[in-house]
Amino acid sequence: MSWTTLDQMDLKGKRVLTRVDINVPMENGVITDATRIERIVPTVKDILAAGGMPILLAHFGRPKGERVPEMSLQPLVPALEAAFGCDVMFAADCIGAGAAAAAGALQAGQVLLLENTRYHAAEPANDPDFAAEMAKLGDIYCNDAFSAAHRAHASTEGLAHLLPACAGRLMQAELSALEGALSSPERPVVAVVGGAKVSSKLELLSNLIEKVDYLVIGGGMANTFLAAQGIDVGKSLAEHDMTDTAREIMEKASAGACELILPSDIVIAREFKVGAANETLPADACPSDAMILDAGPATVARISSVLDGAKTLIWNGPLGAFEIEPFDMATNAAAAYAANLSAKGALISVAGGGDTVAALNQAGAAGKFTYISTAGGAFLEWMEGKTLPGVAALSD
Ligand code: 3PG
Ligand code: MG
Repeated sequence: MSWTTLDQMDLKGKRVLTRVDINVPMENGVITDATRIERIVPTVKDILAAGGMPILLAHFGRPKGERVPEMSLQPLVPALEAAFGCDVMFAADCIGAGAAAAAGALQAGQVLLLENTRYHAAEPANDPDFAAEMAKLGDIYCNDAFSAAHRAHASTEGLAHLLPACAGRLMQAELSALEGALSSPERPVVAVVGGAKVSSKLELLSNLIEKVDYLVIGGGMANTFLAAQGIDVGKSLAEHDMTDTAREIMEKASAGACELILPSDIVIAREFKVGAANETLPADACPSDAMILDAGPATVARISSVLDGAKTLIWNGPLGAFEIEPFDMATNAAAAYAANLSAKGALISVAGGGDTVAALNQAGAAGKFTYISTAGGAFLEWMEGKTLPGVAALSD
């Protein structure tokens, strides 16, 4: 697929309504991870350099149509100014007279941030009148919010039909990395999928099994697969009502060309706490009063040898209870292995979705991965093979 980009747009003197995702984690008014802000900088700078005026549209949290003060975007202004190196004006609404006045007063070299689009219920409803109100504020629409592209909202989808539309730099980067990893990858391709529940990753597993050569299953999900093989998983987190589904996935894999890799050894404990007494055992030897909290070293060795022969890696989710030491061992070790292969140029590694980036950061591996997606839900939906409305709207 190819996209109209900023390069094909005449930006000089134009107001560019730029949909970004600056839904960053905050604690007590402090941004705890500014990645999403850092990653939109190229788009903003390129628009400014071409003589355009970026007007940022974004959501923050899920205010459900109410003006929830804690979900205002205004507190992000200083962080945006620091990241862009220019003034960032703010308008207290994303439509109406105030927003129009602020857009009209914008000078070359400045950026305008509009208040949380989700303060209007019309945003998630993708109301065309609301989209038309926003469209009045600009000449061009640039969507740089891949991580919100799974939402068919007015600012992520509707606007693309109302103004000349293009993809921003981050959107381009996300699309080419994800297409490279799944649509036209260099083979063999390995997918590592971890996380707690099979039920939330069912569509992901089903799609990946058709597309990748090896599928490594880790985390709580792996326990459900072990249970599906008749193995007693003791007190482990497992979805016993999903074992039929897990068996179907295993059958589908063995009928096709995908090799499923489940833990061959496990780290068990009787308490879920930091430093809990633990033991490494074969995968079928979990005591009935214990729980599986991580994969063991033999499993990591198997994953590493598969990665040695691979060309492409897609990573989503941790392999164990990575928040709690020492049950982060498998995640850290496998991530470090993949990171080193990537740094040597031997592996194209793409990671994203939910807890993934936190896990890879904690493993100190994120910096060496080929590409780290800023997307959570959108990454998963892409990997499930779904069409993302925000992306589709850019291609027609
Ligand atoms: C995210 O944080 O994943 C995106 O900003 C989308 O947010 P949402 O799940 O509230 O639509
Ligand atoms: Mg989300």
